[in-house]
Amino acid sequence: MTTCLTALSKKRLLLGITGGVAAYKAAELARLLTQDGIDVQTVMTQSACHFVGPVTFQSLTGNPVYTDLWEANAAHTMAHINLSRNVDMILVAPASADFIARLANGMADDLLATLCLARDCPIMIAPAMNRQMWENSATKRNLSSLQNDGVKIIGPESGAQACGEMGMGRMLEASELAETVRSAFQTGDLLQGKKVLVTAGPTFEAIDAVRGIINKSSGKMGYAVARAAMEAGATVTLVSGPTCLAPPIVDKLIHVVSADDMLRAVQAEIAQTDIFISVAAVADYRVAKASQQKIKKSDKKLSIELILNPDILMTVSTLPEPPFCVGFAAETEDLEKNAEIKRRKKNLPLLVANLAQDAIGSDESALILLDDAGKHVLSKAPKMEQARQLIKHISLLYKQ
Ligand code: CTP
Repeated sequence: MTTCLTALSKKRLLLGITGGVAAYKAAELARLLTQDGIDVQTVMTQSACHFVGPVTFQSLTGNPVYTDLWEANAAHTMAHINLSRNVDMILVAPASADFIARLANGMADDLLATLCLARDCPIMIAPAMNRQMWENSATKRNLSSLQNDGVKIIGPESGAQACGEMGMGRMLEASELAETVRSAFQTGDLLQGKKVLVTAGPTFEAIDAVRGIINKSSGKMGYAVARAAMEAGATVTLVSGPTCLAPPIVDKLIHVVSADDMLRAVQAEIAQTDIFISVAAVADYRVAKASQQKIKKSDKKLSIELILNPDILMTVSTLPEPPFCVGFAAETEDLEKNAEIKRRKKNLPLLVANLAQDAIGSDESALILLDDAGKHVLSKAPKMEQARQLIKHISLLYKQ
């Protein structure tokens, strides 16, 4: 972890807690943030107090906990104005479906909602709810309004839920939320106002109606890069090939299947792009004549003719006025040498090299960043951490 405690110790965070089982994770979150030196002010809704007690947060943060808009305490008169004036950021974790609906509609019917409405600082929310609530179109509508209003949405993830079901809606773990807060404090405006386009996952090239060629790629690194760019304040479009992962919440998500689809999606976005990060494992070849019907088995040998796919990254990097282009190279041998050859061939200011056998499907990777100044090694770490380092590096190069 690359936490800079001195930078964090000057920061003040308002931690909002709403009603949900995940409120218990907020206690660990408050502990981790306080440990970093962040001054954590806690505000709980009435429903949150049914799940965890204010005293827990008071003990963990060393600060009073606010629960009531009508608290008759002279020192905190107009508590909502003072609290939201004095913090650098608001994080609501967990953010229930009900709270999200109230926030999206500008309600001020309790202390936390009032504070959020009266804020002049950035706000992030970590949703937590049952999967059906998450999938409900009302929740989707509310989240999309919040996104348009500049609210950052972190998670949720998929997994076992308190109600016994499996699916999307689990709040991220406290350690991951704490890391997001640290990163937002340290890199929150690195790419503010910049438009970032990320490709992720593999592409799928059909052979017939039921079969195809696909590269090995989980989409983890591309999704982490998109998330890190969001954290750094960029407006992010993510073009994703087929993956089994829940994509991060970005400004625009485009699902594609083949390399051709991906190229079209990228070309439609590129004029509005400042930084293009090509993480996708694009299939280099496609089937010359894919069959509309399922090919039947026979005793004869089967040959499939493959033709070259367009190189999406190179199509962009050789434009007369290209955006800042970042490539990824997964190599199985001679990593640095092959990657540098690729960087020069594709005319890239920055290329991220990794060993395919180490990185594919794994939650961790070791990266080498190659640019005109030489190489920068990022030793093995979780992909999310690597993505944040990469975004920092991009922001430095982009400014020059
Ligand atoms: N890439 C692309 N379009 C392709 C192939 C690759 O945009 N048709 C991009 C990838 O997203 C990555 C970079 O180019 O950012 C390097 O991809 P990689 O597969 O490592 O290299 P290739 O150019 O395909 O070369 P090779 O497969 O021979 O290593």
